[in-house]
Amino acid sequence: MTSLHPTSSVANVNPFYAARLAREPKETRFQPDRPVYAKLPKAPVNASPVPGLTSLYHDDEPGPYGNRGYPGNCGGNLIRDLIRYFRPITVLDPMTGSGTCRDVCRAEGVHCISSDLKRGDDACGSLSHLDGLGFDLIWTHPPYWRMKIYSDDPRCLSQAPTLEAFLERYAKFLANMAGLLAENGKLAVLMGDYSDRDAGFVPLVYHTKRLAFEAGLRQSCTDIVRFSHGASSGKKVYRSSFIPGLHDICAIFERA
Ligand SMILES: C[S@@+](CC[C@H](N)C(=O)[O-])C[C@H]1O[C@@H](n2cnc3c(N)ncnc32)[C@H](O)[C@@H]1O
Repeated sequence: MTSLHPTSSVANVNPFYAARLAREPKETRFQPDRPVYAKLPKAPVNASPVPGLTSLYHDDEPGPYGNRGYPGNCGGNLIRDLIRYFRPITVLDPMTGSGTCRDVCRAEGVHCISSDLKRGDDACGSLSHLDGLGFDLIWTHPPYWRMKIYSDDPRCLSQAPTLEAFLERYAKFLANMAGLLAENGKLAVLMGDYSDRDAGFVPLVYHTKRLAFEAGLRQSCTDIVRFSHGASSGKKVYRSSFIPGLHDICAIFERA
């Protein structure tokens, strides 16, 4: 027999209401240790050489590239898919960290120049060693301001003391990259928003686009929302209440 809500007299006269009250309560408690599966929208069939590359990048396999132990390391499979999609001859990664992009290029047989401030090359500086070069694809994964500190070098973007100082150097960096694109070259920037202890929520993806447009670029295709599988923040416990950001954005630009 269906059990009814004990206090409901309406349920006695309305069978639909009675059925609603009799439903088993749904499990609403969030269980962070269990994987959660979401149904993705169907992508249209098209002539893309990488049909699995859509605006939702959910691959939780990083691929055998770079070093997962490097702070801020990103998986290489997105870079691999971009290379297979855009088919560049030459690639530049000016903030290479553990060399994820370099390793992907090696595996895909693509010529890559990769550098980092830690090896002495300031990508916000003069870059005279790259004078005259033009790249088909520039992949870059800059610091999300001071979310993670990469070195104590004052030229490091993660060392900028204020948001204004960060944006000033970041603007110089994006202008440098715009100047290094080949004729139909693409600049792919992986960036995330974050909450800073002093500045509050910092919409770094918005600033990336604003500064890229100011540098004479336009967006070339959809944002790629990269699910942040394996992020260290996912293992932390916080006392405060907030809406966790579980993605970053790969925005792709070309010359306007
Ligand atoms: C998010 S990490 C890149 C991680 C890399 N994608 C990986 O998978 O290992 C950002 C890198 O930018 C570098 N960096 C910061 N400021 C720089 C600058 N002004 N010029 C060049 N590299 C810089 C840092 O040293 C750090 O290695």
